[in-house]
Amino acid sequence: MCGIVAAVTQRNITNFLVESIKKLEYRGYDSSGLAIIDYKNNIIRIRCVGKVQELIKKVNKKKIFGNIGVAHTRWATHGKISKENTHPHISSNIIVVHNGIIENTSSLRLFLKKKGYIFYSDTDTEVIAHLLHWEQNKTKNTLKKVIQNTIERLHGNYSMVVIDRNNPSRLLAVRSKSPLVIGLGIEENFVASDQIALLNITKRFIYLEENDIAVITKKEINIFNKDNFIIKRQEILSNIEYKSVKKGKYRHFMEKEIYEQPQSIRNTLENRFRKNKIYFSELKLKDENFFYNTEHIQIVACGTSYNAAMVSRYWFESLANIPCDVEIASEFSSRKLAIRKNSLLITLSQSGETADTLSALRYSKKFGYLGNLTICNMENSSLVKESDCYILTKAGLEIGVASTKSFTTQLTVLLMLVAKIINFKQKNNDITKKIIKTLNILPTRIEEILKKNKLIKNLADKLVNKKNILFLGRGDEYPIAIEGALKLKEISYIHAEAYPAGELKHGPLAVIDKNTPIIIIAPKNTLLDKIKKNITEISSRGGVIYIFSNEDFDYEENVTVIKLPYVEELIAPMFYVIPLQLFAYYIALSKGKNIDQPRHLAKSVTV
Ligand code: G6P
Repeated sequence: MCGIVAAVTQRNITNFLVESIKKLEYRGYDSSGLAIIDYKNNIIRIRCVGKVQELIKKVNKKKIFGNIGVAHTRWATHGKISKENTHPHISSNIIVVHNGIIENTSSLRLFLKKKGYIFYSDTDTEVIAHLLHWEQNKTKNTLKKVIQNTIERLHGNYSMVVIDRNNPSRLLAVRSKSPLVIGLGIEENFVASDQIALLNITKRFIYLEENDIAVITKKEINIFNKDNFIIKRQEILSNIEYKSVKKGKYRHFMEKEIYEQPQSIRNTLENRFRKNKIYFSELKLKDENFFYNTEHIQIVACGTSYNAAMVSRYWFESLANIPCDVEIASEFSSRKLAIRKNSLLITLSQSGETADTLSALRYSKKFGYLGNLTICNMENSSLVKESDCYILTKAGLEIGVASTKSFTTQLTVLLMLVAKIINFKQKNNDITKKIIKTLNILPTRIEEILKKNKLIKNLADKLVNKKNILFLGRGDEYPIAIEGALKLKEISYIHAEAYPAGELKHGPLAVIDKNTPIIIIAPKNTLLDKIKKNITEISSRGGVIYIFSNEDFDYEENVTVIKLPYVEELIAPMFYVIPLQLFAYYIALSKGKNIDQPRHLAKSVTV
């Protein structure tokens, strides 16, 4: 969480800093700030609570000129949301912005207080700033050495950028757990938490690796690894289009991303089918051996990625006959595991930086998994780097905090993976052929359902003032119900819960009344008869039901059917999630919520 941008340039960097940090608002948006060393060697710091827009207003009122500076957008961890706790933090000549959590701050604070340091904030970052200053004064070492000595005393995660006013020609970037990327300019260089902050300036990037320290001037970049050896990290040319960072004709990124789904899925499918077989160019021959030997699949993920994993479990078991377990990453890594024979670990993540998922991957390496695979949207992410192999989802940049196109592209990859494993294990081409054929139809099916947006908007208008909404599904539509409830909670703040429809009678029926609408995902499939019985159970108790289906129903009072177009059973989960995304979107829109940046949340949870 938290976004960092820094630059050392030929030009005045003030506008660059505020414009770039705005692009990282998805990483945290409680408060933001910047510090620039101006032409007279003064540190000019501006900070404020609220969105980056507030910072921009403040900065615009001043005339600041400088060639080196940092900016930060915060997702509070240590200390409440306040101006004092907003980064950058300063200790005399030392300026620090930080992404991570330091766990041993109490003892360090005490130590520094005894040395006479005064604290103006509750943050762990101010502790780092003072510690750096103390170390520098004591040892008179170079800033790099000072940082190296200081981080030895820090327990936790400390990706950060440090500037020293006494030597304002360089900035130092340290990577620990959260990503930092260097953007290469012409006689100017940049640092950011994510390349999207820098795409309007450069396409050339170097990703720092764990424990790297980079010393960056206008003309030079020197990267040192944890053993203090100078190291060459690969330069990459980004293929992300700058225009994808803009909303275009849409009101919100989330809306844009919902409508992008047919194209994202087409991109994900492109070049992956050859002669009725699935082909992932990212995988090497040795990786494919994993699939050949796999007897069990363990998926770990968080949030929306977890819900996608839950859907795939039905596919792995029913289509490929491979037992599959799915677990929330934070739970997985906090218990002692007993693992199955020949089990393949899969991590699923849009960002590839989610701390819980990364910890789960690292933890899994202590056990005897056959190997690990990550399915990820970000090619240069930590998960991709730390996994044995990876498959990319190719959703394109997703900016809205609530995931949409990541979910459907993850499902697309997972279904392809199921088909690939079937190929390996059963040599059964019929199921693979069916999966390929059906996946190729999916983008068109999603285009058809997107045209039903008015139907969904009408329903949203009807339910906008409800306090609680229940979502029900059965089989692979149960995780879709969970995802629908999550979308609604995230962006409209309405309390929403999901249940398997058959479970209602075991407790949740007690909350049914005329004020708690129930949305039921009921596509025409083998489970429809069972779900009809559940509908009767609810309606006979006065529940108010809305059924999303491509089937006609014959109910009377209190039951409304939202008739949706036909879809093949195999791809129904990717199809039925679309109206639920739209439903959450329209409710949040009517309520005037901040759809792309819901309160308390962040897109990439790196702590
Ligand atoms: C955060 C986001 C969610 C996302 C989850 C997992 O909580 O707000 O939208 O689903 O992280 O993220 P990942 O990048 O690992 O898929």
